[in-house]
Amino acid sequence: MRGTPTTEVRWLDESFTNDPYALYAELRKSGPAHQVVLPSGLKVWLITGYEEARAALADPSVSKDGRAFQAVFDKHVTNPAERGEFADVLSAHMLNSDPPDHTRLRKLVTKAFTARRIEQLRPRIEEITAELLDQMAGKDEVELLDAFAFPLPITVICELLAVPMDDRDAFRDWSNTIISGRGDDAMRDASMAMAGYLTQLIAHKRANPGDDMFSALIQASDEDDRLNEAELISMAFLLLVAGHETTVNLIGNGVLALLRHPDQLAALRADFGLLPNAIEEFLRYEGPVNTATLRFTTQPLRLGEVVIPAEEIVLVALASANRDPGRFADPDKLDITRPTSGHVAFGHGIHYCLGAPLARLEGEIAIRRLLERFPNLRLAADPVELSWRGSTIVHGLRTLPVGLA
Ligand code: HEM
Repeated sequence: MRGTPTTEVRWLDESFTNDPYALYAELRKSGPAHQVVLPSGLKVWLITGYEEARAALADPSVSKDGRAFQAVFDKHVTNPAERGEFADVLSAHMLNSDPPDHTRLRKLVTKAFTARRIEQLRPRIEEITAELLDQMAGKDEVELLDAFAFPLPITVICELLAVPMDDRDAFRDWSNTIISGRGDDAMRDASMAMAGYLTQLIAHKRANPGDDMFSALIQASDEDDRLNEAELISMAFLLLVAGHETTVNLIGNGVLALLRHPDQLAALRADFGLLPNAIEEFLRYEGPVNTATLRFTTQPLRLGEVVIPAEEIVLVALASANRDPGRFADPDKLDITRPTSGHVAFGHGIHYCLGAPLARLEGEIAIRRLLERFPNLRLAADPVELSWRGSTIVHGLRTLPVGLA
């Protein structure tokens, strides 16, 4: 284990959540991987270097197998109160699976998420965007996440799965709690509530099938036995949560980045042809996902000078990799014209984000139409007072007050 750093870092306090980049820069200087303790008391290896992050995400010996995870997890919990059932009713999904299960589960929905199929949603996404902007028009100030960035992606993903919109507030609360990564009772209660809700929904859709992705999945489960009931519930959960916990922050973080960099905003307003690359730069500069989900080593993993032993938990800091000066010149600078290829905001390897084409399309339409509709869009809060959500996974604001008039 030559070169293995042993320093433990208390990793997630408020100042870190608000600005993880300073600490990441410091960590990268002393090595590409570090042993840290999460707020839940879990000891993990945090990977902060770009090359090392990509290598770990692409290595088939680094596992996401949810069933095998429990034993490794228990070994690394430093706070005994946190030990217990990790696996729950919502966890039998592709992001918790290795091949061949991963391959089987992902294949069931891949076709629905190709760039070509997603492009067909463009008119409907434009329509939803226009409706939301209409509702904002005439107001002096709005909270942009509530008024715009949240309802857009949740409406799109609910329509794609033909999930009723009525329960979306409850859904948002459960989802926020589950994604907090705190591992406490509230998180377990929210998981149970969400699972109960999805079970009822599946029963309802079984009785009333439609021409939608959810009904197709139920059919794949009932007729061809291609996924079991737990996998079905978990798939719906993953798509719904992944479909709205992230894109809201692409829009929110992207708009904030622009409002804090008037030169970049002016350049974009002058030429919307820059928008596709600007979206990639928002993802690189202040992406919606701070760290990838937990993985574990099944054999020693060599990352340059560092060797992570077998049966250790690995956390890849995507936000750090995206600001590694070894890969991106002047990484802390927002530059919507810079080369952005290779950023890891959507992950890397077999778990690379299934929803990337959808997220990009929603982000482009949302930001373009918002800027067009409100030429005087501005921040209505002191940037230092903006507060970020306390989650180990997502990186997004709690609120984004903006002026429109
Ligand atoms: C996986 C980011 C939007 C569905 C991932 C991963 C990342 C990510 C980093 C990999 C996690 C890991 O390896 O641990 C994002 C970002 C988004 C976004 C930044 C918005 C800007 C979406 C949307 C959907 C979606 C709209 C649509 C339903 C998924 C799914 C996976 C995934 C299903 C798991 C893929 C697998 O395990 O093979 N996403 N995501 N994501 N994402 Fe996204």
